[in-house]
Amino acid sequence: MTLLKIEDLTIKFKSRKGVVTAVDKLSLELEKGSSIGIVGESGSGKSVTSLAIMGLLQDGNTEISGSINFEDVDLLTLTAEEKRKIRGKSVSMIFQEPMTSLNPLHTCGKQIMEPILIHQKGVSKQEAKKTAIDMLKMVGIPSPEQRFHEYPHQMSGGMRQRIMIAIALVCNTKLLIADEPTTALDVTIQAQILDLMNNLSKGSEMSILMISHDLGVVKEMCEEVIVMYTGQIVEKSPTKFVFEDPLHPYTKGLLNAIPKISSEVERLEAIEGNVPDALNMPNGCHFQSRCKYAMDRCEHETPPLFKQKDGREVRCFLYDGVGRDEDINATN
Ligand SMILES: Nc1ncnc2c1ncn2[C@@H]1O[C@H](COP(=O)(O)OP(=O)(O)OP(=O)(O)O)[C@@H](O)[C@H]1O
Ligand SMILES: [Mg+2]
Repeated sequence: MTLLKIEDLTIKFKSRKGVVTAVDKLSLELEKGSSIGIVGESGSGKSVTSLAIMGLLQDGNTEISGSINFEDVDLLTLTAEEKRKIRGKSVSMIFQEPMTSLNPLHTCGKQIMEPILIHQKGVSKQEAKKTAIDMLKMVGIPSPEQRFHEYPHQMSGGMRQRIMIAIALVCNTKLLIADEPTTALDVTIQAQILDLMNNLSKGSEMSILMISHDLGVVKEMCEEVIVMYTGQIVEKSPTKFVFEDPLHPYTKGLLNAIPKISSEVERLEAIEGNVPDALNMPNGCHFQSRCKYAMDRCEHETPPLFKQKDGREVRCFLYDGVGRDEDINATN
């Protein structure tokens, strides 16, 4: 069953210097209890996409189009009050920047209790406190009874990140958006948190949209991978195929740039060149200036997402007509 269906989501920021298209016709479908990982270069529109789902992008200079259907309701059509009701109850988010998302004036315990008391009617303060302390334990905070009463400034960066995770997980929402959830944590805590998310996803059918620079985390956690570049999806694939056989030249570059643990020292290949200026996107393919396979048509034609076999899609003319399926057709 589909929980989240995003169609042609486009997000533009207007400023005096011009218009930045941060997200360009993004479509995705997330099943109940399933997980999608979004990877891609810094500035490719990953966080903006998640903020749009959370309904946290309402600036006068922001233009959003397309649709974000959550349980068949288009979140983009909801009022601020309706969005607030969904946040924390049905959809929760672990933010990329925990420092700016915790309230410095309230104890960590109070901040974990708050969503329980708001969204779970009939739960007493005492019960909420117990659940909050259990949650602190589950995210690996030592002496949780004592830490419950502390303020964010009394905690280390990694602990604050785990408080954020506890707040996001405590209500057992249907959808968890996790934006770089474990980047700030050391590997043992990271493994513990990923385990916890995995269990919640399996046990209570929580769906996860996971944004991460860490391809290893995505490989471990997600059934499907979306690769973004300059606001566009350039590749979409079930996870098991993309690591074995990346299709898009950008995805190939991304995978070549991961250090592998092996006895021999390998040379890592960086992707040459830079991301084009957001205010000055080239015509045609956005990746052309960095692509060793670029052809003439890449300069003037914008590649659509070409459907491939195994439910894969790739935005690259190399796959136009030479796709891996008899039934090749382009979407978008
Ligand atoms: N409020 C805003 N106003 C104007 N431009 C914005 C705003 N928020 C984001 N952008 C621009 O939108 C683009 C996408 O930003 P986003 O934060 O989604 O990137 P990201 O993929 O999450 O990157 P990172 O991996 O560094 O977190 C960038 O060009 C960014 O500068
Ligand atoms: Mg981001």
